Amino acid sequence: MLSSIQLSRRAAPAARPTPADFDINLGLNTSTGFFPERPLPQLPEAYASWEDALARAKKVLILGEDLTDDDSERRAEGELWREQIRSLPVISTDVLNMDKQLLRRAHKVLTFLVHFYVHSIPPSDDNGPILVPRPLVAPLLEVSSVLQMAPVLTFADTVLWNWDLINPDLPVTLDNMRMGVDLFSGTEDERNFYLGSARGEIRGIEMLHIVNEYHNLPNVTDFPSICRINRLLARLAVVIRDIEQIIQSVREIVDPRMFYWEVRPWFNGSASGSSKPAWIYEGVDRTELLDLSGPSAGQSSVMHALDLFLDIDHKIQQRRYPAPSESNKRADHGFMERMRRYMPGKHREYLAYLGATRPVREVAQSVPAVREQYNAAVTALKKLRDAHMRIACLYIVTMSRSSPPPGCPVFAMMQRMERQKASQGPVTGTGGNELSLLLKAGRDATTRAVLKGN
Ligand code: HEM
Repeated sequence: MLSSIQLSRRAAPAARPTPADFDINLGLNTSTGFFPERPLPQLPEAYASWEDALARAKKVLILGEDLTDDDSERRAEGELWREQIRSLPVISTDVLNMDKQLLRRAHKVLTFLVHFYVHSIPPSDDNGPILVPRPLVAPLLEVSSVLQMAPVLTFADTVLWNWDLINPDLPVTLDNMRMGVDLFSGTEDERNFYLGSARGEIRGIEMLHIVNEYHNLPNVTDFPSICRINRLLARLAVVIRDIEQIIQSVREIVDPRMFYWEVRPWFNGSASGSSKPAWIYEGVDRTELLDLSGPSAGQSSVMHALDLFLDIDHKIQQRRYPAPSESNKRADHGFMERMRRYMPGKHREYLAYLGATRPVREVAQSVPAVREQYNAAVTALKKLRDAHMRIACLYIVTMSRSSPPPGCPVFAMMQRMERQKASQGPVTGTGGNELSLLLKAGRDATTRAVLKGN
């Protein structure tokens, strides 16, 4: 009976690529997963003007929204910084192409500069588009094209590539990593926000091992293999429960008001909501064709790998039970797929590879003995998404009705609250999607993966 399982729909490719082919590190001694094996180095001397501009931005820039009319000194410093950016030479990135770490560093520095540039501009009445200058745009498009990723701040820039080692002689472990080498707000809340995501990412490395072990099984039909699959799924459920705990623990280290008012505004991209002014990338014919949403943990390859392994149907293409609700149908079904364009190209290739390999859900469908463990893993993921929805609601939906934290100048604070009120509609996430619809649809798509019957 077992040998009749149909796995031909997505048969494993003949020559199996290794994790290293996808820039994934699953080393025997230390596994860093989607993190690089070492922290990023500084850029060579020829690019010192970018590194210097970033160091200066961190010292002198604050959110343009926090500037009052009286704050003339800070306004002048900000304008001077932006003027210096506009007058930088356009530097070729050709010499970086041979070194992936330098390309990553260039992407990270340039995208931080872009977001510093845009969000340090004081709000104006005309609400017109913001011109992002060519000295940032031209090299950013070049490195993004080589790395095959969006030319905007991403999860990789803020988390995967944003750490160094406390003790460079010791291995890369969470305890030895200092997150948030570069910060916008300079707050511990921002650093801890990145840390929360990094913890999830690191815990997820075991999941990559599990997937790898599953793919290494010679077949999925004999008794020992079925026992192995059950053990792998049981291990996976533990990993998922741990990531759920990690998401909840963000509450202990990130203040929601600080996050909402002082950290998150720096992340907004050009497509972050229709009421925001769009950006124009100088020298680009149609900026609106670029992917410019900004960073989101929705760009974490670990979480996508989990969805692919368990075959969660975010696009609602399969006939599954219960049928999608009306609000599920209205949600943005392309969100998760779009988020992949913000990942480094090699990581996206890994996900494409995973999507083309034998699906564990199909095995669980055909082999009743696997169903219980499969369903337990899916249910753990559904619970993770429930917990995540509560966090997103607390940090964004509830905070959208709060006032900025103490420390924000009173006048700027009143102006920000007024602007907020004027643009009030449903609260949106990265790319301007209605947040609660989006997250609920993901949670419900997860529930629909559960297999019925014995
Ligand atoms: C304060 C903490 C957090 C907040 C406020 C938050 C908020 C959000 C929001 C608003 C979205 C919707 C998409 C977007 O707008 O980008 C989202 C998506 C997502 N977040 Fe978070 N998040 C937090 C922490 C985390 C952590 C620690 C993880 C993983 C370890 C995570 C994983 C995800 C994933 C995978 C998605 C894609 C949607 C889904 O899979 O359901 N988030 N998050």
